[in-house]
Amino acid sequence: MTDKTAKLIFWGGTLSSLILFLILTVDTHRQVGALTHADKLSAQVLDGKRAFQKYNCNDCHTILGFGGYYSPDLTRVYSRRGPDYIRNVLQHPEVAFANSFRKMPQQHISETEIGNLVAFFEWVNNIETNDWPPQDSKKYRAANRLSSAAGVSRGAALFQENRCFDCHKLEGVGGDTGPALDQAGQRHDEETIKRIISQPQSVNPQATMPSHEDMSASDVSAIAEFLAKQKGEGR
Ligand code: HEC
Ligand code: HEC
Repeated sequence: MTDKTAKLIFWGGTLSSLILFLILTVDTHRQVGALTHADKLSAQVLDGKRAFQKYNCNDCHTILGFGGYYSPDLTRVYSRRGPDYIRNVLQHPEVAFANSFRKMPQQHISETEIGNLVAFFEWVNNIETNDWPPQDSKKYRAANRLSSAAGVSRGAALFQENRCFDCHKLEGVGGDTGPALDQAGQRHDEETIKRIISQPQSVNPQATMPSHEDMSASDVSAIAEFLAKQKGEGR
């Protein structure tokens, strides 16, 4: 390669990336108003943002990825936890997290400020972020609900851990590659479900679902037992 071609490639590559970057930046900025629902930025939301700054909440918390990584991201906290939970945390963090290894300080935030912060979180929650942060994606939120609900079966937790949600819906949440499994227990008995999980082609030679031959027999049984109980209405 001559010097001239190398320079040409360098400048060509740099300039075209720069132009693309600028176009995308301008495009994003034009959409900020709509994506954030700027029309819903009430005075209370703004006061909430001011309280968020006043108490340095983002020393420990992130919103949209900005802030400290010590404690949970708050972008979707409103839908993850709901207003009452947030209020309780802000009134009594020392009680709410008494059993946690991490601590949130009691800053004696006034009731008005707490109301403003909740309004702020509700507004932030509605920013359209293309499913960011991923742990709060609707798909995984339902999965988390399943595994953290009190008394949840081991099968339900394993269903989540093995990423069955990537392709299957339960209660309207999950992927569309495979059929919804709300009625799995009506369509198949437990033994058949076990076979579908470990070796789908043994039940349906045309099956495209990946086999799970490496999964332990006890894990397969636990998931099958959980699915055999799913006899409800699909959504
Ligand atoms: C010194 C660090 C620190 C500061 C400052 C702080 N927090 Fe926290 N916060 C935490 C920790 C740690 C947790 C999580 C405790 C746990 O679950 O173990 C938490 C949890 C929360 C939760 C619950 C999150 C969830 O998903 O359950 C909310 C809401 C919250 N904080 C809001 C705030 C607000 C609003 C402020 C500012 C007024 C603030 N925090 C300031 C450390 C902090
Ligand atoms: C990559 C996508 C994919 C993943 C991951 C996946 N499946 Fe499937 N599953 C399918 C497809 C597609 C079908 C429909 C039959 C076929 O073509 O295999 C299916 C069918 C099923 C059926 C039968 C449903 C019916 O009513 O006929 C069950 C039960 C099932 N899967 C359970 C599971 C479990 C449990 C897991 C997690 C361990 C899982 N699947 C993971 C794609 C997937």
